[in-house]
Amino acid sequence: MASIVIVGVQWGDEGKGKIVDLLTRGADTVVRFQGGNNAGHTIVLGKEKFVFHLIPSGILYKGKTCVIGNGVVVDPAVLMEEMGELKKRGYLKDDRQLMVSEEAHLILPYHRKIDVAREKIFKIGTTGRGIGPAYEDKVARCGIRVVDLLDEEVFREKLEANLLQKNLYLTQVLKEEPFEVSRIFDEYLGYKKNLEKYARDTSLFLHDRMAKGKNILFEGAQGTLLDLDHGTYPYVTASNTVAGNACAGSGIGPTMIGRVMGVAKAYTTRVGEGPFPTELHDELGEKIRERGGEYGATTGRPRRCGWFDAVIVNHAVRLNGIREMAITKLDVLDEFDKIKVCTGYRHQGRVISNVPSNLEALKGSGPVYEELDGWKTPIQGARKLSDLPVRTRRYLRRLEELTHTRIALISVGSDRSETIELKDPFRKKSSKK
Ligand code: GDP
Ligand code: IMO
Ligand code: MG
Repeated sequence: MASIVIVGVQWGDEGKGKIVDLLTRGADTVVRFQGGNNAGHTIVLGKEKFVFHLIPSGILYKGKTCVIGNGVVVDPAVLMEEMGELKKRGYLKDDRQLMVSEEAHLILPYHRKIDVAREKIFKIGTTGRGIGPAYEDKVARCGIRVVDLLDEEVFREKLEANLLQKNLYLTQVLKEEPFEVSRIFDEYLGYKKNLEKYARDTSLFLHDRMAKGKNILFEGAQGTLLDLDHGTYPYVTASNTVAGNACAGSGIGPTMIGRVMGVAKAYTTRVGEGPFPTELHDELGEKIRERGGEYGATTGRPRRCGWFDAVIVNHAVRLNGIREMAITKLDVLDEFDKIKVCTGYRHQGRVISNVPSNLEALKGSGPVYEELDGWKTPIQGARKLSDLPVRTRRYLRRLEELTHTRIALISVGSDRSETIELKDPFRKKSSKK
C-alpha cells in the first residue's frame, strides 16, 4: 500500500492534472482534499482535452474510484455540469466511480455574489467562484454541508438562518440585491436528487481501501504559495494547499501518508494579484505566455509569467516535505538563448534565500539570477533522459541541486504520453535512462 500526495509548489497551474492522470495508472483511488472549482486541471489525451474543476483527475480510468473529500467546497451546479459532460463523452458510466463526502461544505449563490462584490473593494484577483466566502462560513460554523442538503428540513432551516444575515450584508454593506429563500431552496433540491447517490462517509471508504492495501493518490489544488497560512498572504486562496492538509481534508491520519511529490513548472506563472519576484514584464514573458498557452483554465485570464524561482520552490519543498519532483512544461523553454533561474532575493543590501513573511519585504525584493544556456532544440518527442540535449539535462540537474530534490518525472508536452518517467512512485522502480 502506498499513499502519495501531489502538490503544486508555485502559484498553481503547474500541471498537476496531467501528473495525477498519469499516476492514476498505478492507483486505486484518487482524492481531492481542498479547494473547489477555483481549480482547473487539464488533461490531454490525443485529440481530446478535459478540464476538471471539482472531479479528481483520475476519472478517465475505468475501475478507479474518485473521491471529493470533506475539505473541498462543492458548488453542486458545477459538479452536475462536470458529471454531465463526462457522461456525454462516454466516461463515468458507473456511478460508483465517484463519491462526495457528506461533510463537504456547499457553495451557495450568495457566496459567489459576495466574492465578486468584495473584489471591487479589495482586489485579490479571486476566481469569483465563492470559494473564500464558503470557507468563511465553514469556520464561522454556519456553513451548509452535503449531508444537510440531503435532509430537506435541515437544509431549509439553515438556508433561512443564513439568508437573514447574508441579505443584510449584501444590501447594507455591499449594496447588492438580496436572495429569496425559495429560489435557492428549489434550485438546490434539484441537485439533491442527483447528489444523493454519490454522497457518503468518504473517510470510512478511504480507511477501508487502505486496510485492503490499495494505492491512494491525493490530488492537491492551487499551489503552496497560495496556501492560506504559508503563501503570499493575503494574496492567497482560502484553504491550506500544503500536503499536510491531505489528512484533515480527507479524514485520514498522518501515519497513512507515504510520500509527497511536488509539481513545478520549468518556469513560474501566477494568476491574480500579489508579489511575484521573477515576473517578466517584457517580450520574454510574452514569449513564455504564448509558447506555454498561459491562459487560465478556469477564468481564461492571461497568466503572469517569469523565470523559475528556486526560493519559492525551496519554501514549498520544506513545507510539504517533498523529496521527489515532477518538472512540467520543459518544452516551453525550447527556443530561448539563455534561461535564468532565481537563486536568492536581494533585500536591503543583503541576499536572502527564504520567502519573507512580510509582504512589503517580498515586494521590495529583487531576484538574484543564475544564467544557463538554452538548448534551442525541440524536446517534445523525448521519452527518456538520454533523448534530451546535454544543455537540457544540465538545466534539470541544476534545478535538482537548487531545490534539494530528485526529479522523478519530466513533462515535455501536454499529452499523457509526452512524459519522461524516471521513477514510478508506486512501483518504486528506478529509471530507464
Ligand atoms: P494544473 O492546474 O496544475 O492542473 O495545471 P493547468 O491545467 O491549469 O495548466 C497546465 C497547462 O499546461 C494545461 O493546459 C496543460 O495541458 C498544459 N501542460 C501540462 N504539461 C505540459 C507540458 O509538459 N508541456 C506543455 N507544453 N503543456 C503542458
Ligand atoms: P489550480 O488547482 C492558479 C488564485 C486566484 C487568486 C487567488 C484567490 O488550477 O492550480 P480564490 O478564487 O481561490 O479565492 O482566488 O488564488 N487561484 C489559482 N491560481 N491556479 C489555481 O488552481 C487557482 N485557484 C485559485 O487566481 O489569485
Ligand atoms: Mg489550473
